[in-house]
Amino acid sequence: MTAHQLRETFIKFFVEKGHTHIPSASLIPENDPSVLFTTAGMHPLVPYLMGEAHPSGTRLVDYQKCVRTGDIDEVGDNTHLTFFEMLGNWSLGDYFKDDSIKWSFEFLTSDKWLGLDVNMLAVSVFAGDDDASRDDESAKLWIELGIPEKRISYLGKDDNWWPAGGKHPGPQGPDTEIFYWTGGVDVPDTFDPSDDRWVEIWNNVFMEFDKVGDELKPLSQKNVDTGMGLERTAAVLQGQVSVYDTELFIPIIQKIEERADEGADETSVRIIADHMRSATFMLADRAGLSPSNVDQGYIIRRLIRRAIRHGRMIGIEDAFTVDLAEVVISEYSEAYPELSENKEHVISCLQTEEDKFSKTIKRGLKEFEKMIAKHELSGEHAFHLFSTYGFPLELTIELAREKGQMVDHKVFDEEFKKHQELSRAGAGQKFAGGLADSDPKTIMGHTATHLLHAALREVLGDHVEQKGSNITAKRLRFDFSHPDKLTDDEKARVEAIVNENIEKNIPVQFEMLSVEEAKERGAIGLFDDAYAQIGDKIKVYFVGDASKEICGGPHVVSTGEIKSFKIIKEESSSQGIRRIKAVVGN
Ligand code: ALA
Repeated sequence: MTAHQLRETFIKFFVEKGHTHIPSASLIPENDPSVLFTTAGMHPLVPYLMGEAHPSGTRLVDYQKCVRTGDIDEVGDNTHLTFFEMLGNWSLGDYFKDDSIKWSFEFLTSDKWLGLDVNMLAVSVFAGDDDASRDDESAKLWIELGIPEKRISYLGKDDNWWPAGGKHPGPQGPDTEIFYWTGGVDVPDTFDPSDDRWVEIWNNVFMEFDKVGDELKPLSQKNVDTGMGLERTAAVLQGQVSVYDTELFIPIIQKIEERADEGADETSVRIIADHMRSATFMLADRAGLSPSNVDQGYIIRRLIRRAIRHGRMIGIEDAFTVDLAEVVISEYSEAYPELSENKEHVISCLQTEEDKFSKTIKRGLKEFEKMIAKHELSGEHAFHLFSTYGFPLELTIELAREKGQMVDHKVFDEEFKKHQELSRAGAGQKFAGGLADSDPKTIMGHTATHLLHAALREVLGDHVEQKGSNITAKRLRFDFSHPDKLTDDEKARVEAIVNENIEKNIPVQFEMLSVEEAKERGAIGLFDDAYAQIGDKIKVYFVGDASKEICGGPHVVSTGEIKSFKIIKEESSSQGIRRIKAVVGN
């Protein structure tokens, strides 16, 4: 079965079970300041998991494009990718564990559907802890379906909870993961989840909790959120151990190999294929992204440059990124029409970026020649070439060897480790928070949220701290620490302060400051560990003297654009935390 057929078969199965097929959402999460990219199919569905009615009903199915950059160092092995597709089915307060597990089993093992051998499957379920009990119900369902007890493993929140670890706010719950044995005919009787020949192909999450602060509260409805990795499952169905050996990658890899040296390093080839597939999808996204030095644009730049560096390492000297993007576009446009619709943008971005970076590489080579003429090449030099000119250590070592020199690995590694921590943090999260949704109404709500935060501190006191926020084009929601219900008078005063600041039409500006400077200037916001790690400047938004707050933006140009602000609800969110919902505009 091809990946394309797998997509269609999955949708067909769940449509037969009463689900509505919804389209893949953008790669850029709307209204979620905590991540740069959509990392799972559930991301765009958060409001509906929380109880808002979805226009397509309570049973949904889709295939969703996703990006996870946290695993970037593992790309090149058999299963890790920066871009991947997730097949998902959802129950929004409709069915729960029973149907979810039965249908997963039926889809995987029935001859009418995937027809996988039950003997190749194993599952993990949540082991239970102080917060939530062990998921015996799921284990029982699996056993009834024919999964032997020895093939069931009980694991904690890092493995069997979504989002992993249970530390995030928002909708969540225990999950049960389905694994497939890829290690050949000798299938072990027992399931050892640390053996990576057991590949996770599907995760069923039972979202029945909301996490607010440290507290786990029952959600108003019990949901199911599942995610099946398309690439991994396609590999399993095609009897392949590696996702790169499926037709999803073969044409891209062939194109790379046509241009590379004979016997080119396989890991480099895979990295190029993965990164160019990701970059093409990112550039073609409806959000209209391009390479830059911030946020999503920075990740795109990093992926393209890393692909080019690996290209140079395997002997591809001329521009090649556009050729690869063309393969991706032609292979995937049927499932993702935005690829062909935005082809011109993709190609022009890649041409510019590759041209720029080729020049940087040339300058780096000059720098290398200068360094080596003067001194022994130190680990610091090698790191400088890496961080400033994007020279991989391997390239520097090779160049140095030609000059009869060696590079001090240890010093390089130390520097590299520091750098890695920074860039890994940068890839996974958007530190200063901010808004991915560029709808003007949402941006108005975002600036209004800053004004609201400041007004609450003025009226209630400095103990008020932001505990969460969620902004859509319809309304803003702001959670903050405060022990008591707001009185009508307090609400009126808060509203009045915000509206006065709107009437004054104050310009909104940001400055890049160090953590120290930001604190000195009285900025509020999340001075968490992430900042200390970055050691870099942070973005602080100033609304005149009315508000100073760490934030990623974007914001309105001046407050008059917000027109007006009205609180529509004030309620308890959890112990010691209040929640305000408000609307802006006319
Ligand atoms: N949200 C779950 C996951 O991504 C299904 O694994």
